Amino acid sequence: MRKKIVAGNWKMNLTLGQAEQLINDILQAGLRLKDGQEVVMATPFPYLLKAKSLLKNTPGFYLGAQNSASEKSGAYTGEVSAEMLQSVGVDYVILGHSERREYFQESNATLAKKIDLALANGLKPIFCCGEPLEVRKAETQNEYVAKQLEESLYHLTEEQLKNVVIAYEPIWAIGTGLTASAAQAQDMHAFIRAQIAAKYGREAALRTSILYGGSAKPSNAEELFACPDVDGGLIGGASLVAADFLAIIQKLG
Ligand code: G3H
Repeated sequence: MRKKIVAGNWKMNLTLGQAEQLINDILQAGLRLKDGQEVVMATPFPYLLKAKSLLKNTPGFYLGAQNSASEKSGAYTGEVSAEMLQSVGVDYVILGHSERREYFQESNATLAKKIDLALANGLKPIFCCGEPLEVRKAETQNEYVAKQLEESLYHLTEEQLKNVVIAYEPIWAIGTGLTASAAQAQDMHAFIRAQIAAKYGREAALRTSILYGGSAKPSNAEELFACPDVDGGLIGGASLVAADFLAIIQKLG
């Protein structure tokens, strides 16, 4: 009943030429996605328009951005608004990635504002949450993630939540080659779903897609995606290699 999604987060990588090549290689594979499966490619801002034209409404393939501003418009040099993203045909926007939280000081409260603006402009936020290593070592990851959800999402109505995707990304697993085990991912995803159920009810929780991110690759995607509460992945490094990204998409089943 809920969507299964593989989203590629390209981060700050590739030139325009390489971006075009990657999208073409992925599309030319001619993958037929099953009902309810979606692929998102979150490119750097300068490539969005080009990516949109290359995607040419290919069924199941969507365009993503990696961030959007916490203010609507105006004198915010260097920022990109949700409205701008909508105007170039963006479907999804990644918000609250741990790199944004750490290097650009994005707080849970700032993210709540970004989510509101994204939704108001018809974008679907992929809201990232996840704990650093010291929190995992102290075994307080559930409390940590619960607070992120509470402070950035729980002001939304149930209707608004329908357009939000959650991505659980343990920070210690991002770009490190260290993947959460399937059991660790499942435990946290089940916990997140239970939190959503407690706030919005069981039905809302069951229709919320929760993606796993953190060193996901072709060799571990199948086991991760087989977990009952893992609805796909937010893929960093492996989304930059067409063969790997395609292999991961196929692990959706
Ligand atoms: O957004 C994606 C995540 O940060 C995962 O990155 O797959 O390179 O570990 P990674």
